[in-house]
Amino acid sequence: MTTAHIGLIGLGTMGASLALNIAEKGFDIAVWNRTTSVTQGFKAQAGDLFPRIVATETLADLVAAIEKPRAIILMVPAGPAVDQQIEALRPLLDPDDLIIDAGNANFHDTNRRAEEAKVKGPRFLGMGVSGGEEGARHGPSIMGGGEKADWDRVAPVLEAISAKYQGIPCATWMGQGGAGHFVKAVHNGIEYADMQMIAEIYGVMRDGMAMKAAEIGAVFDQWNAGPLQSYLIEISAAVSKATDGARPMLDVILDKAGQKGTGRWTVIEAQNLAAPIPVIEAAVMARNVSARLDERREGEAMFGAAPQPLAKDALSIAALEQAMIAGKILCYAQGFALIVAASHEFGWDLPLPAIARVWREGCIIRSTMLNDMATALEQHPERGLMLAPFFADHLRAAVPGLRATVATGVANGLALPALSAGLAWFDMMRTGRSTANMIQAQRDFFGAHGFERLDLPGTGLHGPWGGHM
Ligand code: 6PG
Repeated sequence: MTTAHIGLIGLGTMGASLALNIAEKGFDIAVWNRTTSVTQGFKAQAGDLFPRIVATETLADLVAAIEKPRAIILMVPAGPAVDQQIEALRPLLDPDDLIIDAGNANFHDTNRRAEEAKVKGPRFLGMGVSGGEEGARHGPSIMGGGEKADWDRVAPVLEAISAKYQGIPCATWMGQGGAGHFVKAVHNGIEYADMQMIAEIYGVMRDGMAMKAAEIGAVFDQWNAGPLQSYLIEISAAVSKATDGARPMLDVILDKAGQKGTGRWTVIEAQNLAAPIPVIEAAVMARNVSARLDERREGEAMFGAAPQPLAKDALSIAALEQAMIAGKILCYAQGFALIVAASHEFGWDLPLPAIARVWREGCIIRSTMLNDMATALEQHPERGLMLAPFFADHLRAAVPGLRATVATGVANGLALPALSAGLAWFDMMRTGRSTANMIQAQRDFFGAHGFERLDLPGTGLHGPWGGHM
């Protein structure tokens, strides 16, 4: 029997694609799925890659088929299935063997599994993999977490299978424990936000400007040749232009968005860290609202439909493009600031420019702008994207378009939650004298919480409302 270089468990869409990718890069791979017919069918359909695949029928066979020290990738549904698989493998493996969880795990679970691995063995890596089926098959973006030595051991395989940006592999070790899965969660949060902002702009064109889906697709195509070039703009053009018979495909798709929960994890974590990510929060909120279709229909019946057609020339396509550019910069500024907050809190040293670089190819949020973000984060690591000179210039140019879009949306019942949240955050972040003095006065009035004064030194000062406290 061939001794495989690496093993893989879970031949669903992502696992099967990843296994073929690994085989194609010249590594023999042993695979196992809990349904043996799936394993056999996978090998039977592997075509030219057939000789590189070792199909195994039991976990013991899988383990026996891999060269030592072994590395086994798990591509099973996130959650209890991962723990069950680790439990089943543990007695069969040597302490030096390595289990790599490549699913969309919650990074807290990955932290826990990494700690358990230190006590019970074998070794453990948590690895975020982005790019969907196509990415897994031909080159995903890979965000690794765990012991650096373990990453280094499998890096040749991971770099070989990853996407390449101008020849540079999009596979990077992010830090200890759950660092890789945390970065993947932020990726997904940003993915939600990018998608939501595109959907909002689509709504302005469809409901405000009465544009047909194909016309909207042409606008996205045009934008994809400029600063907004990205996979998500590209596929938004494609889906806008697609038809179902005579009808645009978009026009027959129910407006109720699904979600597997990774965006929600990002928002919950950001709240735990007191890191403001309002664009991502708005995107997750919008998915939740979209799911409440019956209530939305009742709302429309009671109050009338919100979106109103815009007056001619109320908003230009150029203003919408500027809105998207500004919204995107603000969203990523928030996402990277969340990464900084997590890095401090969890004792990681998350490499901001490297994260921007690993997202340049292979993953769902890949875009030209990420290359400029990597440069800005390298040049001004302490400033954040909003204050980095390159993006500050872009914001100065693009915010007027964002403001016009949001203002027109508000005036005409076009809900733009993510874009509005980005603008509000931007305005707050350039307001030296905020309104939190009112909050402090209220807190002191009802709870004697104390405040600081602008004109006097000291903390824990109180207002002249003693009799009412
Ligand atoms: C990726 C994607 C992927 C994600 C789903 C969509 O990076 O390849 O983020 O991991 O799970 O494609 O997720 P939702 O079902 O939550 O929209």
